[in-house]
Amino acid sequence: MKNIFRKKINILAIETSCDETSASIVQINTASNKKYNIKILSNIVSSQVKLHAKYNGVYPELASREHIKNMIPVLEESLDIFNIQGKNNILSYQDIILKNIDILAVTAGPGLIGSLLIGVNTAKTLAYALDKPIYSINHLEGHIYANFINPVSFPQFPLVALIVSGGHTSLVYMKNHLEYEVIGETLDDAAGEAFDKVACLLNIGYPGGPIISKMAMELKAKNLKSTTNQSSRDDIKISFPRPMINSHDFNFSFSGLKTSVLYTLKKLPKKLSRDLISQIAKEFQDAVIETLVSKTIRAARKYKVKSILLGGGVSSNKFLREKMSQTTSKKLPDIKLYFSESEFCTDNAAMIGMAAAYKIILGKPPTKWYDVNANPNQTIGQI
Ligand code: KG4
Ligand code: ZN
Repeated sequence: MKNIFRKKINILAIETSCDETSASIVQINTASNKKYNIKILSNIVSSQVKLHAKYNGVYPELASREHIKNMIPVLEESLDIFNIQGKNNILSYQDIILKNIDILAVTAGPGLIGSLLIGVNTAKTLAYALDKPIYSINHLEGHIYANFINPVSFPQFPLVALIVSGGHTSLVYMKNHLEYEVIGETLDDAAGEAFDKVACLLNIGYPGGPIISKMAMELKAKNLKSTTNQSSRDDIKISFPRPMINSHDFNFSFSGLKTSVLYTLKKLPKKLSRDLISQIAKEFQDAVIETLVSKTIRAARKYKVKSILLGGGVSSNKFLREKMSQTTSKKLPDIKLYFSESEFCTDNAAMIGMAAAYKIILGKPPTKWYDVNANPNQTIGQI
């Protein structure tokens, strides 16, 4: 690894595990006193959300086809920061990579196989053809390392990370950098998946998380304005269970909650007022968040951690952040809570580059290009 001794190491990271095609340039700056800082030079994300909206979820075959269309343009856009030659003297992108990129990184799993294959094969081809080292990165470790992008302070170990996205709900204990122990996960639907399915039941659009959160916010604002709170929902009590909140493990289950929303809707008229839909959205969101917060706090206490990290698309939820923050300050005031900027919560390649940066800094060897393989069921910590 001759490049490790250079002062600046540029990583080209690629992420295509689900429905976002993303490429990012992450730079490690090494000072002579062995201190380093890591910067995100570019982070290009092409989202397919609009395309999948009519299916109320990701349509895997369509996702792969879109990745094929978008991969090279996204890759080139991420590299444009190096194209300083001026329009009349543009270098080929192969030359830009040869000249500026030291190391490649790619999400190998978990995710949709057809989607993963596009990113993995793009990165492997570049590694082989341009003779660059490559790191195979787990998508969940990317979501964790998103918390190391532009932090106000660095998370201290040991820590517990709650990863909540469209495909995952996991509690991961980390004694140190790159050491992962999954202590809990969902037994059925992921938290984000539950948001998406409930939004589909309510017929309010896709992806469900941001819409449900917005409707809950509207309701909160309305309730603050009106103290009398007279509305069409006066005589309707909506409440949902907190699934597995008292179980003695750190696992989750959200499919029963979704069914509970369905049964509630069956008892109501077909056409619902916006207020009532907002109320159902808010009650559902409260049930998910209370369960996530309660288990995370319990895990943090049991494992005597110094930090709690949130990651994944659902972690951009304002109510989840607020509730986790209030509960942590109240119950475990010595523990610091971290969450990243929204653009790094949903899928992006910068978080993959950040995880690779820590592997490089901590001296982990790269993977041989022929050993980087798409693995839809890859567990965190597995190469
Ligand atoms: O991490 P992500 O981009 O993709 C996966 O790895 O799955 O997460 C996407 C998920 C979707 O299910 C979406 O509904 C959810 O994150 N999400 C949210 C919010 N923003 C995105 N869920 C709740 N509240 C939000 N504000
Ligand atoms: Zn994700």
